[in-house]
Amino acid sequence: MAKDTLDVTDGRTGARYELPIELGAIRAIDLRKIKASADDIGLRSYDPGLTNTASCKSAIGYVDGERGVLCYRGYAIEELAEKSDYLETAYLIVKGELPDAHHFAMWRHNITTHSMVHENIKKFMDGFRYDAHPMGMLVGTVGALSTFYPDAKNVLDLESRRLQTRRLIGKMPTLAAFAYRRSRGLPYVYPDNELSYTGNFLSMLFKMTELRYEPDPVLERAVDVLFILQAEHEQNCSTNAVRCVASARADPYSAVAAGVAALYGPLHGGANEAVIRMLEEIGTVARIPEYLKGCKTGERRLMGFGHRIYRNYDPRARIIKELAHRVFEVTGKNPLIDVALELERQALEDDYFVSRKLFPNLDFYSGVIYQALGMPLTMFPVLFAIARTAGWMAHWAELVRDPEQRIVRPRQIYVGEGARSYVPIEKRPEPVMREDAVSRTI
Ligand code: SDX
Repeated sequence: MAKDTLDVTDGRTGARYELPIELGAIRAIDLRKIKASADDIGLRSYDPGLTNTASCKSAIGYVDGERGVLCYRGYAIEELAEKSDYLETAYLIVKGELPDAHHFAMWRHNITTHSMVHENIKKFMDGFRYDAHPMGMLVGTVGALSTFYPDAKNVLDLESRRLQTRRLIGKMPTLAAFAYRRSRGLPYVYPDNELSYTGNFLSMLFKMTELRYEPDPVLERAVDVLFILQAEHEQNCSTNAVRCVASARADPYSAVAAGVAALYGPLHGGANEAVIRMLEEIGTVARIPEYLKGCKTGERRLMGFGHRIYRNYDPRARIIKELAHRVFEVTGKNPLIDVALELERQALEDDYFVSRKLFPNLDFYSGVIYQALGMPLTMFPVLFAIARTAGWMAHWAELVRDPEQRIVRPRQIYVGEGARSYVPIEKRPEPVMREDAVSRTI
């Protein structure tokens, strides 16, 4: 008779074990029962990059990588991108349900009233070098917010969590825009709370001497859709970073600063910036075959391609590809789109990429839109961070409330030296440099 257990036999001892299967997983701690001897600490699972390890139970985002499905709280990303806006989607991600008109009006008011930042933040921004990357500025200033809101340490208090969530979703666009203005040597633009969330962000970025910035509605909607698409993606690297820091009961500003830092990496949120640099390096359609050859030899990566979960087309990339054409009707076509489209076509006909199930991810086309909107390359991951703040705050709250969660403290498999005694310096041989040694295989 079928039962929800994994029956294993330890070949070292012949002992048999029955491990319960719950929700398609076994508990790694159950492996500790499997011992080779009485003083054995028991088996561990070894999973570099956590490629097959569930670190939590979550109800926020759902990704089916084989089918190319993404849902936020059960709603398909395609529907949200078409029918919702970022603030409403952020409410859904954080609260778990779509708001009614009254609650949405309250949510929008509460976020909008938190768009200002302490005036001292400008001093932080001014302290960065003239050529500082905006993501570095964002890591620093988000972390600094923890010093302005010491009450945020009350992570077990629901009202405090709600207040910090409103503050961070409200302030991220302001910090991002301040970083941009600082990098361009332009005066800071204060929030205009009469504009939409995304319209206000564009105003803080691009307002010059005009009395009031009027966002182009097509571009405002395009950025809002990009924010929706980047708002949440279950246990991605940066969300995992937020959860890890939050597991120590650190305040949410410190945890989100860790998320921004992880998102900065070119294999994660920094990929959209890297895609444009790649497309500019390729330059013309004629040079694509040569470039792809380098990707297949491993000397470089096809940025914007591949995904840990999606073994099919990233549904977000499909939406962004269509969005690009609507933006180009207003901004004029970004010539790099032709290189990107042909690059995708050739890669998807090449067995190297097809056999590894490498498809365009959401970063492959987002940069082409951002560039057409006049955003500098270095701001691309910053826009990603603004959007992902909703997901990060939802995961932070879910972790804090989860009775099963404990401080993250993984184990390791030690492959270093055995015990050895101290030798006086005059008796030591020439040291063998280990820092460049490849880690020993187990
Ligand atoms: C995001 O996790 C998320 O949800 C992230 C994200 C989100 O919303 O939060 O979706 C956002 O980060 C999207 C990913 C953006 N990054 C990039 O576009 C950078 C380029 N992509 C890769 O570096 C890579 O595909 C990753 C990092 C996205 C995934 O890496 P994995 O799962 O660790 O895959 P891997 O490195 O083990 O690669 C498997 C094989 C390898 O070849 P073999 O060793 O089997 O011969 O595929 C190859 C890799 O060399 N490969 C690539 C490749 N990606 C993987 N080869 C060329 N170009 C690539 N882009």
